[in-house]
Amino acid sequence: MPDIRLERLVKRYGTVEVLHGIDLSMDDNEFTVLVGPSGCGKSTTLRMLAGLESVSDGEIYIGDRPVSHLDPKDRDLAMVFQDYALYPHMNVARNISFALRLQKRPQAEIDAKVKEVADIVGLTQFLHRKPGELSGGQRQRVAMARALAKDSSIFLFDEPLSNLDAKLRGQMRAELAIMRQRVQKNMVYVTHDQIEAMTLADRIVVMHGGHIQQQGTPEELFKRPANKFVAGFLGSPPMNFLDVTLVEESGALFASGDGIRIAVPAELGARVEKEREVTLGIRPSDLEYAADAPDAQSLDLNVAVSEYVGAQSVLICECGGASVTVEVKSETPIALGETLRFAARPEGIHLFDRTTEAAL
Ligand SMILES: Nc1ncnc2c1ncn2[C@@H]1O[C@H](COP(=O)(O)OP(=O)(O)O)[C@@H](O)[C@H]1O
Ligand SMILES: [Mg+2]
Repeated sequence: MPDIRLERLVKRYGTVEVLHGIDLSMDDNEFTVLVGPSGCGKSTTLRMLAGLESVSDGEIYIGDRPVSHLDPKDRDLAMVFQDYALYPHMNVARNISFALRLQKRPQAEIDAKVKEVADIVGLTQFLHRKPGELSGGQRQRVAMARALAKDSSIFLFDEPLSNLDAKLRGQMRAELAIMRQRVQKNMVYVTHDQIEAMTLADRIVVMHGGHIQQQGTPEELFKRPANKFVAGFLGSPPMNFLDVTLVEESGALFASGDGIRIAVPAELGARVEKEREVTLGIRPSDLEYAADAPDAQSLDLNVAVSEYVGAQSVLICECGGASVTVEVKSETPIALGETLRFAARPEGIHLFDRTTEAAL
């Protein structure tokens, strides 16, 4: 399986540059997810890789081969689109086998392939139905099966689940993860949904404004975000950000602000200057309700809103003019307007430069 390399890839539409020099390599057999907000350049990157958009500058390599000037059909890849693009008048079997029939492969080979991929995506019982007789999730599976039938070495997906309702999307996400175990190919998957990215990816590439912000395993990006954008984009509910000053007291460094006094872990403290104004980042999951938390490791939060979501309640609180989200067990007795003390997990403390927003 070849690997994919994008070198200083630039896309301009007229005079407007929308991708500003993307450098990215994707190892063979890897599931890479490009994730970022709408308009950040994910689809453009994927479509350039597929050969559906021209390259303004830079080069794309598949294996050792520069492919920027090759036709899509000569790049040995299969793509699944958001809108499925199925042929409405053909049944499932014929949709799946479309490319194989065009290539005039022997009928026995086509039948075997249809059977194999229909089994992988769970469509065996529906081979004779037309797309109009299928649910959204089933149509999505047909699009997937059709791509798999092409036997390409690279699969590209552009938001394949975004037309499905939330419950089905969760289910299809799990099925994709299972399919991924069975089909060992190089897959590049585009989504704006950080949960899809976190659950499916071997490697996540976070994009914003036509730039790559950070790439790495889901765990690396979650635990050590390179900047405030990545920190706030991955994780739900999102990371809280608070303006603090770093003050030194008896040899230790504290992030200090209105209602906030949190000891900065020594390793992090060694990298930052005191008396500096920074942004403190802390995820809801790293804040624990602890009435008796020591002064040196606490935030005092005033509860403004409580959202019951089952086993947990999400509290939106006020702290020195900023909003802080935390989670507590639902049975915790909470009154709106009450001030509660939360303890911060030391490993959950992140600091960002106020100006550049880079992680410190
Ligand atoms: N054909 C086009 N002409 C001009 N601008 C475009 C065209 N296609 C996309 N863009 C612009 O390029 C940027 C990236 O778009 P896109 O790659 O579709 O984003 P994403 O898939 O991340 O939502 C957006 O600002 C979009 O408006
Ligand atoms: Mg897109």
